[in-house]
Amino acid sequence: MTAKIRPAKGAPYARILGVGGYRPTRVVPNEEILKHIDSSDEWIRSRSGITTRHWAGPEETVAEMTLAAAGKAIADAGITPEQIGAVVISTVSHFKQTPSIATEVAHRLGTGRAAAFDISAACAGFGYGLTIAKGLVVEGSAEYVLVVGVERLSDLTDLTDRTTAFLFGDGAGAAVVGPSEEPAIGPTVWGSEGDKADVISQTVPWDDYREGGVEKFPALRQEGQTVFRWAVFEMAKVAQQALEAAGITSDDLDVFIPHQANMRIIDSMVKTLGLPEHVTVARDVETTGNTSAASIPLAMERLLATGQAKSGDTALVIGFGAGLVYAATVVTLP
Ligand SMILES: CC(C)(COP(=O)(O)OP(=O)(O)OC[C@H]1O[C@@H](n2cnc3c(N)ncnc32)[C@H](O)[C@@H]1OP(=O)(O)O)[C@@H](O)C(=O)NCCC(=O)NCCS
Repeated sequence: MTAKIRPAKGAPYARILGVGGYRPTRVVPNEEILKHIDSSDEWIRSRSGITTRHWAGPEETVAEMTLAAAGKAIADAGITPEQIGAVVISTVSHFKQTPSIATEVAHRLGTGRAAAFDISAACAGFGYGLTIAKGLVVEGSAEYVLVVGVERLSDLTDLTDRTTAFLFGDGAGAAVVGPSEEPAIGPTVWGSEGDKADVISQTVPWDDYREGGVEKFPALRQEGQTVFRWAVFEMAKVAQQALEAAGITSDDLDVFIPHQANMRIIDSMVKTLGLPEHVTVARDVETTGNTSAASIPLAMERLLATGQAKSGDTALVIGFGAGLVYAATVVTLP
């Protein structure tokens, strides 16, 4: 017989309740990158907008950076670690396949027995994590969910590749998602384009390296111009769709937080979307570089910490990257 199953009961809606970031202490200027590649500070600044990035030291592991960012987000949300029911961590640069980094973090934070798992969605990782968290809170599987984007991309950077050496940075950005009486995370417009898998990827799989087939440790490589065009043309459309899905226009926006990949991509998206003057645009890439899954929460935290954005502001966030994958949504800032 088919028994009648009691449905799960969650919150009416979900919201971001707190954010926190961690940037490694070592600041790496363009001059240091130039030791390894034939380029110039002027070229890097004009093509990418990046002047400095943070690179993690040996002690600043994926776990330590995550714990630092998560601790701040939990305090910002005004909850205790025991209240967290699930931990979702997005990363492509945690080099131990199993167990997940999320279980270690859940334990060391003192969450008790929170569900914990990692996801791999590259630079769209925060949007993917946020979407999962919203679902868990509304469906009732967790009252509070910790979402973290964390990367040590310096470990996956070929310092001698002049098309990528200056782009990447390290760091962690965290958010606590919990119950809300009002809608505060809009519908997610997300997807993947696996036919473009070769456009950004790891140079070789781990097992090729292990078996001695290649000498160089795997690194990130990309077709810069292809990514650039895709981001500017296709991602602006996705951002527009996220506004429409949330039932608002760019006039209703206070803040725009695109993935921090390249200042020229950010500027082009702002133009294509026709964002009004009053919209604050995250330009964290200048001093943080591209930190993949960490980039949006790091930028969000900095805008709030510096007073450029405030609690209750309406923000459009969009992440995009290797896969290719993307995720965009409108949120109310914590
Ligand atoms: C990487 C990127 C900054 C390169 O800028 P670009 O304007 O596309 O540069 P191009 O690749 O067209 O190269 C232009 C010229 O500069 C040269 N060049 C490439 N890297 C250089 C460097 N570091 N310094 C100086 N010259 C360089 C090229 O050889 C080329 O020379 P040529 O015209 O004589 O052939 C840009 O493509 C980019 O940001 N793409 C998106 C990257 C991204 O966001 N990736 C992650 C997405 S999640």
